[in-house]
Amino acid sequence: MLVRLLYASRAAEGVGAEELLAILRQSKVHNPEQGVTGVLCWSEGIFLQVLEGGRSVVNRLYNRIAADPRHTQVELLSYEEIVERRFAGWAMGEVNLARLNPALLLKYSERPVLDPYAVSGAVSMALFLELMATASIVGQP
Ligand SMILES: Cc1cc2nc3c(=O)[nH]c(=O)nc-3n(C[C@H](O)[C@H](O)[C@H](O)COP(=O)(O)O)c2cc1C
Repeated sequence: MLVRLLYASRAAEGVGAEELLAILRQSKVHNPEQGVTGVLCWSEGIFLQVLEGGRSVVNRLYNRIAADPRHTQVELLSYEEIVERRFAGWAMGEVNLARLNPALLLKYSERPVLDPYAVSGAVSMALFLELMATASIVGQP
């Protein structure tokens, strides 16, 4: 039984490149052990993460992530049972939106900034699929 979960959050004060590296490192160690795949996208203090895997595993991981003091305002945007994974290629793929063409963000929002709190979960998921289609996600399985 697979699920796909999408949430947004705001980086806590003082959380920068070093903490981000630590988060990615932890994810790349834990996620393969748990059969979790996904992508973490960030831009100007906002995180957007998609997680896929077994329902219990993803639910447990989400609860652990939601309690992590390195971010706040963790908001569940989308949760669905799925037949197949879409992000199977990444234990935790990475996207630094600041490095991307602003037109990509503009396609899905009123201004060329990442604001998942202002758009529907479906729109944020569409952005992830576009990131995948444009080969903007980096990282190994
Ligand atoms: C934005 C964000 C995303 C995270 N994503 C993951 C993840 O995909 N997998 C994971 O194991 N931990 C993730 N974490 C870290 C967990 O909250 C938690 O610190 C970690 O799983 C505990 O690892 P440890 O047992 O090595 O201390 C994330 C944390 C943040 C703030």
